[in-house]
Amino acid sequence: MKYDFDRVIDRTGTGSFKWDLADALFHGSGLLPLWVADMDFESPPEVIEALVMRARHGIFGYTAPGPAYHDAIIKWFRKRHRWKIRPEWLRFAPGVVPALNLLVQAFTAPGDSVIVQMPVYYPFMRAISLNGRTVLNNPLKLEKGRYRMDLEDLERKAMTPGARLIILCSPHNPVGRVWTRDELEGLGSICLKRGILVVADEIHCDLTYQGVRHVPFASIKEEFLMNSVTCLSPSKTFNLAGLQTAALVIAGGERRAGYETTLSRLGLTWPNVFGSEALTAAYTHGAPWLDALIDYLAGNLEFLKQFIARNIPGVTVIEPEGTYLVWLDFRGLDMDNNALKRLMIEDARVALDHGFIFGSPEGDGFERINIACPRATLEEALRRIERALKSRFQEAKP
Ligand SMILES: Cc1ncc(COP(=O)(O)O)c(C=O)c1O
Repeated sequence: MKYDFDRVIDRTGTGSFKWDLADALFHGSGLLPLWVADMDFESPPEVIEALVMRARHGIFGYTAPGPAYHDAIIKWFRKRHRWKIRPEWLRFAPGVVPALNLLVQAFTAPGDSVIVQMPVYYPFMRAISLNGRTVLNNPLKLEKGRYRMDLEDLERKAMTPGARLIILCSPHNPVGRVWTRDELEGLGSICLKRGILVVADEIHCDLTYQGVRHVPFASIKEEFLMNSVTCLSPSKTFNLAGLQTAALVIAGGERRAGYETTLSRLGLTWPNVFGSEALTAAYTHGAPWLDALIDYLAGNLEFLKQFIARNIPGVTVIEPEGTYLVWLDFRGLDMDNNALKRLMIEDARVALDHGFIFGSPEGDGFERINIACPRATLEEALRRIERALKSRFQEAKP
């Protein structure tokens, strides 16, 4: 095999948020971390090589991304997602979460409402409330094991006075849906009609399983392009989160100026030199690595499903169409959020993201597991959960 995703690489002592801070953040000890969304795999060799070469140059002054950077993004999205992005639409961002905060500041006013679809990536809610805006929830519906959007409810929410913007998670973290063109058209038409700007967080767009295609929201039609800002980043796809690099697609000239003003107010003028270098190398050379990664992740997903079906009764896997995050339904075990949290941390000693942080009640009784790790690590985590549940339910027997 050209890329060895089975290799367990020790990340402790590298300042890894996932590994070095898990015990402190989850108040546990010896926790096996499968929570925050980065991968326990090395980035593609071409990316590492590009960073080493750049480091060897030895001068790290202010650096503006050049044509190779724009070209890399444009070619990647044209090839992988059949979306033609024009270079003038692109703006840098120091990460997608910073971008979401900046966009909320740029395009809404204090007191306005911003729509999200819970259960959803919790920094969305923080970007809204920390900036003095109100979270307006358009909850997803879970029907026969599959989540879908509730567009009737969205229409009502979009008519709420002060509703200005929606943060769309596409593909969706944590439920793993890759929204269909129809679903996106439904959402986009409502937003267009009601004057709601769509901020499409498409950070997981490259990570879709076989037979599933991501549709960039802004690629659907010109009106959607003009009524949206799309957040892109190589950081999930190629495991570059620590380099804090992202790009925004903003087709409207006035809107671009609005974003730039907000960047300037914070003195955010320059992208990180290594971030731009890594983005360019990843989008230029990373396709074979990504294809191999997706195969490996599909194997991990299959392993997880079979393991749970055989050994962990009462837990249901919500089948993801994309992302390396899997939403596990523990509601069959009839435990409240606190009991489930204690079971994971104290008994199983695994750090997963608890469902309720993605919105409550929508996430109550769920846990999100990150399967972007060597299979041996995933197996160890699942065995720990199996053992914890077995001993708990044995104890509970009279
Ligand atoms: C939907 C979504 N958006 C954004 C991010 C983080 O983006 P960044 O690290 O560029 O701020 C994540 C990470 O998990 C995510 O899942």
